[in-house]
Amino acid sequence: MITVNEKEKVFHLNNGRISYLFYVMESGQLGHLYFGKVLNPGGSYLHMVEKAHRPMTTYINEGDLYTSYEHLRQEYPCYGTSDYRYPALEIQGGDGSRICRIEYQGYEIIKGKKPLSGLPATYTEEEDEAATLEIRMKDAWRNLEVILSYSIFRDVDAIARSVKFVNNGKEDLMINRAMSMSVDMPDADYQSLQLSGAWARERAVKVRDLEPGFTGVSSMRGNSSHQHNPFLALKRKNTTESSGEAYGFSLVYSGNFLAQAEVDNYQVLRVMLGINPFGFSWNLEPGETFVTPEAVMVYSDEGLNGMSIQFHRLYRKRLARGFWRDKERPVLINNWEATQFDYVEEDLLKFAGKAKECGIELFVLDDGWFGERNDDKRGLGDWKANREKLPGGIEGLSEKIEALGMKFGLWFEPEMVNKDSDFFRQHPDYIIQTPGRSVSHGRNQFVLDFSRKEVVDAVYEQMYELLSKAKISYIKWDMNRSISECYSSAYPAKRQGEIFHRYILGVYALHERLIKEFPELLIESCSSGGGRFDAGMLYYAPQGWVSDDSDAVERLKIQYGTSFVYPLSCMGAHVSACPNEQVGRRTPIETRGNVAYTGAFGYELDLNKLNNEEIEVVKEQVEFYRKNRKFIAAGDFYRLLSPFEGNFAAWEIAEPDGSRALVTVTRILSEINGAYRRLPLRGLLKNRKYHIQSKYISYDAYGDELMQFGLMLEDKSSGQVIDGSGGCQDFLSLIYEISAK
Ligand code: DGJ
Repeated sequence: MITVNEKEKVFHLNNGRISYLFYVMESGQLGHLYFGKVLNPGGSYLHMVEKAHRPMTTYINEGDLYTSYEHLRQEYPCYGTSDYRYPALEIQGGDGSRICRIEYQGYEIIKGKKPLSGLPATYTEEEDEAATLEIRMKDAWRNLEVILSYSIFRDVDAIARSVKFVNNGKEDLMINRAMSMSVDMPDADYQSLQLSGAWARERAVKVRDLEPGFTGVSSMRGNSSHQHNPFLALKRKNTTESSGEAYGFSLVYSGNFLAQAEVDNYQVLRVMLGINPFGFSWNLEPGETFVTPEAVMVYSDEGLNGMSIQFHRLYRKRLARGFWRDKERPVLINNWEATQFDYVEEDLLKFAGKAKECGIELFVLDDGWFGERNDDKRGLGDWKANREKLPGGIEGLSEKIEALGMKFGLWFEPEMVNKDSDFFRQHPDYIIQTPGRSVSHGRNQFVLDFSRKEVVDAVYEQMYELLSKAKISYIKWDMNRSISECYSSAYPAKRQGEIFHRYILGVYALHERLIKEFPELLIESCSSGGGRFDAGMLYYAPQGWVSDDSDAVERLKIQYGTSFVYPLSCMGAHVSACPNEQVGRRTPIETRGNVAYTGAFGYELDLNKLNNEEIEVVKEQVEFYRKNRKFIAAGDFYRLLSPFEGNFAAWEIAEPDGSRALVTVTRILSEINGAYRRLPLRGLLKNRKYHIQSKYISYDAYGDELMQFGLMLEDKSSGQVIDGSGGCQDFLSLIYEISAK
């Protein structure tokens, strides 16, 4: 998968479907050549280098009026050359100089892929699943070694990149900027696509034309954020979901990030992704090493959906890991929206008992079970059961839940503390704060300084105590505020730029310890819903709570946007009560179920409050999901109609071999006397006959008809609802089961 033209010093990563090419320039710097659809491995590609004499340009060599880094497409640009675009790397020595020049030293090709110490990363299970190219570069002046790593996957059209720095010199170096990847594309005729939003409306799809200057998204909140996801895609203007070129860049990281597209005045496009340089610096002492997080680049010529399928395949199987990766996820019920903080054990047992009756497998006890936690002003940090609410503690409750025939799960918010807690009273210096200065709160809570090992250890001890004694099969790991006034009193002045990153390393370290100690524990990540829904968390927690907005109509958009990068297996999606807690909307229980099926399914309401008819629907839903969950988690996901663009949302899950599909169609508002509608499907076999079954229709058709002419949608919008089926109403959703005969 990796070939090297030794004479021309051209490196070609190629898996038969995609190619990535770069070369060593005469100066020793690396130049980028190409990233996209596969090119012939035997070709010579140096003629792709574009350069011309242009006035007002700074040239590299005296007497040469052609060669300028300002115009050459680069592979990992450093600050302090004749390149005036933003660099991927900026370092500063003790002399104050920020000039850097890294030159090629050699390369190594490795079978498979190495792990990234302390960081989440994609991995291989067998050596021939991927090949890794490591390029050794050096800034001789500083004696800094820079190793650029590229792994290309055999079965997925993705390349994973990271960069390692080793200070072999005699003085400290300050890394001010170290992006995980940079690529200079030869034209800028693209639109960028980002996933942006806010709390409860995360990951909305936003597309914009690229113009000279910058386009990008970032976070400086300490978490990847509700506001912007660490991801950026590029698409040609005519690229659709199913055709045309699309590139996706995703960062496997949960902290501050920057994803940026810069178009220069010659229409060259530089894309880069990595730790946000704002607020970041890393003091690298002699002999020390620093490794960037991993960036994953995907190319597809089958449109945006083609790009998403590549991400899904990689992230589902070679980023998510451990005991639960391929296991059927339990149908869960969570008490938060039903009870908030107000419950005692007896209520919980009634709540869980009804859930058991409906076939639900896991009861999750949310916030409020510990310390003096009767509201959100106190208790965080005291991970011991509140005996007034739970007389037998977590041990007693978990045993009772297991006796009902269900598994037990528990909520934690390990990174936070309330000032009104025993933990804070014992360790007032454990929070992120500049001594002597005031510090802001979020939801009355403060952030523990996870850059310090002793702080992480103290939290681990408390969690270990519970997890080792009680029957806990699952934890929901929440994080309900971002970091402000970032400072750690445990580090010297020159290391304060490291705190955001060290914090996330502490979060990862705690996850890793828990996973090692309790390998069968299922962890669901959460950050006020989707505030840290990123590829980094997926390495530790195979599922995440997509959003605090559980309304089915809102969820159409949120889950649709999330699917651009993340597989269904990791999207926590629940049926909640009506009127909905966040938006006050009433939707049919069938619609709530249909939307939540497309993820790790569960409930977020008190089933004792439903009538008998609704309980029967819940039982059917649980049965349906249990029957289909393996297929839902592993199938190829197709976006068919975007809720961002019209009154309908539709998506399809298809078995990769084309043998079956499940189609969900939701009409948001009822229509009067509307058009006849057909929905072209995807991922079926042209010559195979299928049976189509929904609540109202049942017919047979060949795959080619279903993909060309489309699935016939029942139209209950004529304004004359004469069959009493209730089909003419707002927020109506239907499932179509398509099975090969
Ligand atoms: C925010 C989460 O997203 C909710 O699901 C719930 O766990 C609350 N926190 C509890 O405080």
